[in-house]
Amino acid sequence: MAANKLKFSPLLALFLLAGIAVTSRAGDIAVYWGQNGDEGSLADACNSGLYAYVMVAFLSTFGNGQTPVLNLAGHCEPSSGGCTGQSSDIQTCQSLGVKVILSIGGGAGSYGLSSTQDAQDVADYLWNNFLGGSSGSRPLGDAVLDGVDFDIETGNPAHYDELATFLSRYSAQGGGKKVILTAAPQCPYPDALLGPALQTGLFDSVWVQFYNNPPCHAGSFYVGVPAAEAAAGSGYVAPGDLTSAVLPAVQGNAKYGGIMVWNRFYDVQNNFSNQVKSSV
Ligand SMILES: *[C@@H]1O[C@H](CO)[C@@H](O)[C@H](O)[C@H]1NC(C)=O
Repeated sequence: MAANKLKFSPLLALFLLAGIAVTSRAGDIAVYWGQNGDEGSLADACNSGLYAYVMVAFLSTFGNGQTPVLNLAGHCEPSSGGCTGQSSDIQTCQSLGVKVILSIGGGAGSYGLSSTQDAQDVADYLWNNFLGGSSGSRPLGDAVLDGVDFDIETGNPAHYDELATFLSRYSAQGGGKKVILTAAPQCPYPDALLGPALQTGLFDSVWVQFYNNPPCHAGSFYVGVPAAEAAAGSGYVAPGDLTSAVLPAVQGNAKYGGIMVWNRFYDVQNNFSNQVKSSV
């Protein structure tokens, strides 16, 4: 099959993302939003009807005792409270059934966990500032996000397993709303940075490089793709190739969850999700 010829580069692994297990119906599309001010609003993304999950990217600074920093590129300025208005968009998304997940890490951040206590502190920070807790300075306002996505691309793997554990414990609080955990590990599997965290089994899903790795015991896997040629250094798969060659090769897997698209900006530019949605 042509799928064998479609080599996904390690770089493409940056764009592979975990999703949520919903195995009884067709696959979903997840998308990263937040790193391009020209991609439209969060509400626009959700109102498109294309996505089941939107990752708000990124909390690019955290851990090591640093004051956490949210970076939403040109959308708004978190440091001056300029992003609290996103709350209404988040609620719009959630009212449409779209899960809104905070992505921590990313390719250009300053982050890392120095100790168990540091992991606990970051978990507490995330809970109080983005999830069901409370804080006087919630960057995205009062809206309660649905979970946390680990997009750990730099640093070392220490204590992310503990961060996952501490976050998962919060699922029992705040009215019992589950804190969804997803991860965007890089290949090869097991991921050098996220391997220990994934071993906790606490992740609702992780991507699995579909052509040579067994699905892991966490939830479903999503096939991550760039939304356009310009969205990645390499590894762009045209919509027609994705639907005719790649997806048929993985859709038979019981843990197939759908695709993840990097990112909303390029998706708008290239009309990518619209072209593949009916085949996902
Ligand atoms: C986007 O793709 C859909 C589905 O193929 C198509 O109906 C629509 O016309 C496209 N929109 C644009 C702007 O090309």
